Amino acid sequence: MTDEAARADEGLGYAVNAPYYDLILPEEHWAGLATAVGGLLKDARSVAEIGAGTGYFTEAMLGFLPAEAEIFAIEPARVMRAALVTRLVRHPEAERRVTVLPGDAATADPGTGVDAVVLLNLVMHFAPAERERLWHKWAQALNPGGLLIVEAQYPQKAESVPASVVPGRTLGRRRYDTVSRADAIGDDLIRWVNTYRTWEGDRLVQEETAEFDCHVIADERMAAELSAAGLSPVPDAPENLRVWRR
Ligand SMILES: C[S@@+](CC[C@H](N)C(=O)[O-])C[C@H]1O[C@@H](n2cnc3c(N)ncnc32)[C@H](O)[C@@H]1O
Repeated sequence: MTDEAARADEGLGYAVNAPYYDLILPEEHWAGLATAVGGLLKDARSVAEIGAGTGYFTEAMLGFLPAEAEIFAIEPARVMRAALVTRLVRHPEAERRVTVLPGDAATADPGTGVDAVVLLNLVMHFAPAERERLWHKWAQALNPGGLLIVEAQYPQKAESVPASVVPGRTLGRRRYDTVSRADAIGDDLIRWVNTYRTWEGDRLVQEETAEFDCHVIADERMAAELSAAGLSPVPDAPENLRVWRR
């Protein structure tokens, strides 16, 4: 596994990405994911969110979980955690209900069983052997009947993805977008190359590039791995999610 928290501390990966994160996230797609997660967690009393990032889904979950439900937001990269806590301290519910854990997926411990484990836009960072430990640890952390939720993985094969421009938001005089492509670099491994661009009118003010080596996990493979961890697939899961039950 690439240690993304360590890379960020060296100024790579998420250190480059973080200042742009909320400006360039695909809002419509993620709002749909958040709603779908919300539909699955109507009765959850406790959730571990692994790799919470800047807290987009943490905040969304505060809105749709039961009023007393607790969230353990696990985020190892300092730069992302700074954004996460900044978002949370402004949220009236977070003080009572969200615990931020600075460890990573392997080391963090909520100290209690949870009704759901949410891993969104994260599992591509884990190599096969690391995933085995990831699934096992968090399957064990689930209360009986609890859910493990992952987004549908893209791409499903280690293949190049041609460059495309993903539009982002505007702040004041500046507009942001991302040129994103992936190169196939190995067996089940691709390198996402994301260039974050800042525009004032038609003038390109700044561009910065972050690269992430990511593991490709086909649905069948994920199914085999999660079955081996003792979980059962939830058959009627929302289209863009893969959901497993203990
Ligand atoms: C693409 S971001 C996704 C953030 C958030 N889940 C979202 O969807 O907006 C991936 C996050 O996972 C974190 N991460 C990377 N490796 C991790 C690990 N081993 N354990 C926990 N989090 C990790 C990164 O620091 C980053 O914040």
